[in-house]
Amino acid sequence: MIVTHLTLSDFRNYESLDIDLRAGSNLFVGSNGQGKTNLVESLGYLSTLGSHRVSNDQAMIRQGQDSAIIRARLSHAGREILAEVQLNRASANRAQVNRVPIKTRELPRYFSSVLFAPEDLALVRGEPSGRRRFMDELLVLRTPRMSGVLADYERVLRQRNTLLKSARNSGVKENQLGTLEIWDERLVALGSELIEARSALVAELAPEVASAYAAVAGQDHAANLTNYLSILATTPDDDEQDHNATAAGVLPAGEIAEKFRVALARLRRAELDRGVTLAGPHRDDLVLELNGMPARGYASHGESWSFALALKLASAAVLRRESSTGDPVLVLDDVFAELDESRRGRLAAAVGDFEQVLITAAVFDDVPEELAAHVVKIRAGEVVEDD
Ligand SMILES: Nc1ncnc2c1ncn2[C@@H]1O[C@H](COP(=O)(O)OP(=O)(O)O)[C@@H](O)[C@H]1O
Ligand SMILES: [Mg+2]
Repeated sequence: MIVTHLTLSDFRNYESLDIDLRAGSNLFVGSNGQGKTNLVESLGYLSTLGSHRVSNDQAMIRQGQDSAIIRARLSHAGREILAEVQLNRASANRAQVNRVPIKTRELPRYFSSVLFAPEDLALVRGEPSGRRRFMDELLVLRTPRMSGVLADYERVLRQRNTLLKSARNSGVKENQLGTLEIWDERLVALGSELIEARSALVAELAPEVASAYAAVAGQDHAANLTNYLSILATTPDDDEQDHNATAAGVLPAGEIAEKFRVALARLRRAELDRGVTLAGPHRDDLVLELNGMPARGYASHGESWSFALALKLASAAVLRRESSTGDPVLVLDDVFAELDESRRGRLAAAVGDFEQVLITAAVFDDVPEELAAHVVKIRAGEVVEDD
């Protein structure tokens, strides 16, 4: 799939933007702070209903305005659709496809993109929550139904935690234990579904990550992924360093729920003491390894960077394989400035066969020539004519 036209109204620093995009590479060039990232962020929002920079939609509405519009004409196999979302300060966001209102959360079904930005270094070096979010976003892009499972799990988890807290504060009562067992079953049912889906995803991603890493880094450092499952952990330890040592493994789908129940029984005392749920997908992690060592804490800056990029390229590869609407649009925000000459060339080769790639750069010369076929100059929230 490609975006053939993008229209923005009052989005970030764009009062209004109307721009044609092409198949293949599109390069947005401009000094810092001109609106390059804003532009690609708008397309990221259309495919994920979120931003890679902020968790709050308000920041994306132009200062002093009440609403912003992102509208994209999408094309695949000769068919075009018009997808649009309106972000509103004071009311719910609204979405349309071909000018017909749809539920906003349905929007990602129509458009998928994969964005890589310097912030993604946190995938390798940051907290497990970022890696869980990466996995879950990909799960939803692949299988939209999973967004319901995720939301239900979160809700059950909150309610179970509330009950554990109140039991901690006022001593456990007989009837609370009964209620807890009901929540346990729901937690296990939804959590097992999530664990199974994430495990299948890890199995699919792992070989793609290994080959993407080798492709960008130019070396086969045996990049590997495993699933850390908190339900297999021996202690309910908060220390993530431990994630590398224990409980990384694959569980046959049929055994997940049983292991989950066993973990909850084992942790009952500790959960009542602490007033929180100590095992489940909300405490799992994606363990990243290079040459058998955890990337987090061992990998150099350059290696961490290549790993984060490999994760994104691998997710694009998985999405393109399964999609009925062609490739996801690949977005590389400010990536080339960080790479040396040879890595730039390898990255250009790795992304060259995607249907559409959107690239931003402050310095034109940082981007390999083969990706500079269509160049758009951005200044202060406007496209300026090339001279
Ligand atoms: N909601 C907003 N309203 C108006 N301007 C905004 C808004 N959000 C960000 N900006 C402006 O957008 C600019 C940053 O644009 P950005 O796309 O990040 O730059 P770059 O070209 O370096 O990627 C800053 O000048 C910032 O003040
Ligand atoms: Mg930027």
